[in-house]
Amino acid sequence: MTQQRDVWLSFTVNGEPVSAKDISPAITLLEYLRLSGRAGTKEGCGDGDCGACTVAIVGAGADGKPHYQAVNSCLIPLGAVAGRQVLTADGVTQCSIPKKPLVKEPVTFEQLHPVQAAMVETGGSQCGYCTPGFIMSLFAAYYDGTPDDLSVEGNLCRCTGYIPIRRAAQLVADATIQDQFSAQLGSAATELLPLAYTTQNNGHSERFYRPTQLSEVLDLLQQHPDATLVAGATDLGLEMSWHRQHYPVLISLEAIAELKQIQQTEDYVEIGAAVPLSHIEANLHGIFPSLDEMIHWFAARQVRNRATLGGNIGTASPIGDLPPVLLSLDATLKLAGPGGERTLPLANFFTGYRQTELQSSEVIVAVQIPRRPAPGTARRLAQSYKIGKRGTDDISIVAAAFVVDVDSSNTILHARLGYGGVAATPP
Ligand SMILES: Cc1cc2nc3c(=O)[nH]c(=O)nc-3n(C[C@H](O)[C@H](O)[C@H](O)COP(=O)(O)OP(=O)(O)OC[C@H]3O[C@@H](n4cnc5c(N)ncnc54)[C@H](O)[C@@H]3O)c2cc1C
Ligand code: FES
Ligand code: FES
Repeated sequence: MTQQRDVWLSFTVNGEPVSAKDISPAITLLEYLRLSGRAGTKEGCGDGDCGACTVAIVGAGADGKPHYQAVNSCLIPLGAVAGRQVLTADGVTQCSIPKKPLVKEPVTFEQLHPVQAAMVETGGSQCGYCTPGFIMSLFAAYYDGTPDDLSVEGNLCRCTGYIPIRRAAQLVADATIQDQFSAQLGSAATELLPLAYTTQNNGHSERFYRPTQLSEVLDLLQQHPDATLVAGATDLGLEMSWHRQHYPVLISLEAIAELKQIQQTEDYVEIGAAVPLSHIEANLHGIFPSLDEMIHWFAARQVRNRATLGGNIGTASPIGDLPPVLLSLDATLKLAGPGGERTLPLANFFTGYRQTELQSSEVIVAVQIPRRPAPGTARRLAQSYKIGKRGTDDISIVAAAFVVDVDSSNTILHARLGYGGVAATPP
């Protein structure tokens, strides 16, 4: 894989095949859409906060049917879109898929997607700037979830007000799903193929690798000591979109099956580093209630659809929300490097402000969380708390998570407290 160089970034937008050449893999999908004339997708904040840029990525569900994930296009590097199907608000009307991806002629009410029709009916749009984003969040929820407040928690509207938009969500939630829309939106995406894309940008070479084996990631890290790992890009995406940070070599972890697994035994749950948080939310609900609680308040749906546990730990932010919870649950990290695998208690991982024990040649492979409380435990008390400037769609100012195991006489057998936002590292 690493020998072959791709010169194109190929994907589809609203059913139309797109091949981008000589383009930086680190520009965002949003920049690409707008530069290529697909201006229906809007830019508000450019940092994942407002949802105006929301698009849907088509993936294959366990049932083989297409499923749709709402994501912020302002955070996804273009390299990460290769091989995927992207849908935007321009593309979900009945008339525009797949033959007319750029709607140039008026659309009749009957041609609107049910989500668009609901927004028209309830007057859910005034200036319209936020509308394409709301449409795509509701669109994804229409097929893959529940169109409700949570499905649009990552979308901000500053002029219509939320009541008509909530009514639109209600209308959509009450409607029967019309499968003919799903059918015309394209077949399920297949597996992500390996990618090794190279281009020149302002005299600098830029490479984007998407290997499919962990061993390839380790080889690439050896070959390119200046490489940066990228998972969901909800952290790195900010650097790309706002700070125009130059990344000579990006190695995507998204196609590595080994990093995307969840294993459950009687003793522990092991979560692959590249598992998106929304997947953890859906598949491990009820096992670690304090983790459920923190993930619930983590950013918003579009970010959780991409953000990973490995990225939250790898970024080593002192205000990352998950390390306090994982510390309280006595989590252990599995790390892989050229010399093989090693394990390290998360409590020993953070060494200073944004500094960790991870070597530049290593990757976080998984997080293992023990399931059994201390011997003799009659009851486990586990809670997590987060205080941010906003209820949702925001990182914390301070966070805390507590686990206390007590015996039948309420004597504490084991207590572990994790904090975020109070020191240079999560203590
Ligand atoms: C709008 C918005 C809201 C947010 N809200 C929250 C919030 O509420 N709480 C919170 O904690 N964070 C929040 N974040 C930050 C971010 O979403 C999280 O840190 C997220 O978990 C990062 O995961 P990722 O997969 O996107 O990481 P990426 O951006 O892909 O990577 C982040 C860092 O981790 C490294 N990395 C990734 N995977 C690995 C791996 N397997 N091994 C070694 N290194 C790795 C990368 O090299 C990079 O340095 C928010 C971000 C945005 C844009
Ligand atoms: S432009 Fe605001 S979330 Fe992307
Ligand atoms: S309709 Fe104007 S910001 Fe929402």
